[in-house]
Amino acid sequence: MTPAEAKPILAGIPLPVMLIDAGYRVTLTNPPLLDLFGHDPGGMNAVTLLRQAPVLAAMDGAIREARAGTARFVFSGLAGEVTYEFRAVPLMDGNTVTGAVLSFEDRSQAEASEIIRRDFVANISHELRTPLTALTGFIETLRTSARDDPDARDRFLGIMENEALRMNRMVSDLLSLSRVQADERVRPRGRVDLGAVLRSVVATLEGKLTNAGVTVAMPDTSGRIVVLGDHDQLTQLFLNLIENAIKYGGKDREIHITAETLDRDRTLRMAAHRIDIRDQGDGIDPVHLPRLTERFYRVDDHRSREMGGTGLGLAIVKHIVNRHRGRLKIVSDQGVGSCFSVIIPAA
Ligand SMILES: Nc1ncnc2c1ncn2[C@@H]1O[C@H](COP(=O)(O)OP(=O)(O)OP(=O)(O)O)[C@@H](O)[C@H]1O
Ligand SMILES: [Mg+2]
Repeated sequence: MTPAEAKPILAGIPLPVMLIDAGYRVTLTNPPLLDLFGHDPGGMNAVTLLRQAPVLAAMDGAIREARAGTARFVFSGLAGEVTYEFRAVPLMDGNTVTGAVLSFEDRSQAEASEIIRRDFVANISHELRTPLTALTGFIETLRTSARDDPDARDRFLGIMENEALRMNRMVSDLLSLSRVQADERVRPRGRVDLGAVLRSVVATLEGKLTNAGVTVAMPDTSGRIVVLGDHDQLTQLFLNLIENAIKYGGKDREIHITAETLDRDRTLRMAAHRIDIRDQGDGIDPVHLPRLTERFYRVDDHRSREMGGTGLGLAIVKHIVNRHRGRLKIVSDQGVGSCFSVIIPAA
């Protein structure tokens, strides 16, 4: 095959690919390879171009020993470090090596998701181990020292019940998180009246509100804020946010819910509805804001755990907002309160 014939074939391959001759000179390149290096290395010596020992070893293997090989190639470009799997495959004419095909497969996405997956499993194990340790500890105590002490027994059973309930909540939160993630790419199609959703969420939380002495101020929005959405998920979203406002907003305070229609949201670049949920709590230190929606992230681990928190509430919120092509904005003033804004494209 002549270079003129090979060029369109190479151009049709989405991976960065180049051909070298037996003297390591770059003879042919494709457009993705130019994007990778930022210039056309055609005519250059591949040794000078690649310069990383494992990569050069794989290339030598192809040219000198007619052996295909792979290596990790770390490229530092404008967008930071990107890891590629480099592959060198010899080109043969009979028994003679005439050159090699060199390709670069971007592995950074796959490596990043592998790290996330591993962290996630480690997190879950850790989160489940804490209540389990408590449970086994109390079972032991009930068998031994607290055996004949009815008061202690009642108290320990109460703690055990709380821990078991927390594990239960964690498992159901994890299930709903994975459900939301599973259909994150599917656009929801139902017409949902957010005002009605808010009213039903507040009604559901009546008991918690009364216990905390918290009142909710709500806008009169009958039928005005309609979005294309998933009714159950939007209910879950506001339930999580208002529950947080009750939990972290402080006793005997107020929660203010306001709604606004934006002709054009600057970030979403379209008409949108914005719902603000504002509490009068202690607020959140700005250092925590970027990580707040991560799974299991809690500002005050101990306090949140004591309140039965799993740290999954806002992660679920974020995924639901993403699925609705909206955005979540968090503003917090320490000592004044926090405001969680949900901005969703208007139907
Ligand atoms: N309105 C708020 N005011 C102050 N801090 C908040 C508020 N909402 C959330 N936070 C902080 O963000 C953390 C994460 O919230 P998230 O809802 O994800 O978890 P959680 O409330 O601890 O547990 P759960 O899974 O039960 O909701 C909380 O632990 C809390 O520290
Ligand atoms: Mg929460």
